[in-house]
Amino acid sequence: MKALVLSGGRATRLRPITHTSAKQLVPVANKPILFYALEAIRDAGITDIGIIVGHTAEEIKAAVGDGERFGVKVTYIPQEAPLGLAHAVKIAEPFIKDDRFVMFLGDNLIRDGISEVVSRFQEESPNAHIMLARVRNPQDFGVAELNGTKVLRLVEKPKEPKSDLALVGVYLFDSTVFEAVNAIKPSARGELEITDAIQYLIEKQYTVHWHLVSGWWKDTGKLEDMLEANRLVLETIERRIDGEVDESSQIDGRVVVEKGTQVVNSVIRGPAIVGEGCKIENSYIGPFTSIYNRVKITSSEVEHSIILEDSCITDIGARIEDSLIGKNVMVAKDNGRPRAYRFMLGDNSDVSVI
Ligand code: TTP
Repeated sequence: MKALVLSGGRATRLRPITHTSAKQLVPVANKPILFYALEAIRDAGITDIGIIVGHTAEEIKAAVGDGERFGVKVTYIPQEAPLGLAHAVKIAEPFIKDDRFVMFLGDNLIRDGISEVVSRFQEESPNAHIMLARVRNPQDFGVAELNGTKVLRLVEKPKEPKSDLALVGVYLFDSTVFEAVNAIKPSARGELEITDAIQYLIEKQYTVHWHLVSGWWKDTGKLEDMLEANRLVLETIERRIDGEVDESSQIDGRVVVEKGTQVVNSVIRGPAIVGEGCKIENSYIGPFTSIYNRVKITSSEVEHSIILEDSCITDIGARIEDSLIGKNVMVAKDNGRPRAYRFMLGDNSDVSVI
């Protein structure tokens, strides 16, 4: 069996972070989201992986390389434009050939991995297998309508969803899916939809199996979901302090402080992770916070947030919460006159002040 990981796309919902970086490389609990997918695939015993890449191809290649360090072999498949999930399948045919394969959306996280579903797919040998999860906002997902064990219909982002069963971003197919992706036409939003391809399989009486995922699953396409994924992964970390913590600091609960990091006169309350080469001084880091490498936090409070590398937060008078802060960002109190907010923000930035 092979795997196809989708790491192209537009990622408009995560701008401005994605103006400069691939969303699949945003770290969740200090590990790029995409790496969780590659590890889940490898743990299911699949080592031949095709990765669909778009305009962020170079960045993805630099991070993943040939896959050796994950114990897999990676082939990159460039997609000329984000023309849809089914389009990604279509262009992967020369790589997949006649094999069965698992398709994994590179911005999705699934707690229990995919080993069970892969063995089930191998044993039952349907033409396709989909995974479903109950969600509060089905109108934002591909939604399944079932009749007992049968999948009746799949609709992409329905205005009036007929169920709360969303399609999880992991799909298993045999090569009949190529017949489907070559037969369907682009949707109203101009994309070849994977829901339409699976609907085609249903209508042609091919076998489509499904099951409900038991553990959590997260599509990290939006800020709230990214923060929730971060929360869910941080819930599973073990305490490990490799950095230096001075006597006037307090580290509570499941906290990771990586090597080369200094914690001075600060409180860190877990679950939280602080990467390598950081300095946390006179500050409070609250639960569900991931701070990546070489970040400096001085006289500030941060909670339930993700901060990427080389950023600096200084003397902020109120607690920073629910935030995703990019690379090399400076947030500092300005003591100059006149007293004013002074911003230099990229396109599509989002700032809330008090
Ligand atoms: P989406 O989140 O559905 O699309 P997107 O990344 O373009 O984001 P947005 O809606 O915010 O603009 O994509 C799911 C995953 O599939 C994600 O990892 C990107 C990838 N993808 C491709 O590789 N090729 C494509 O043509 C599309 C649409 C997505």
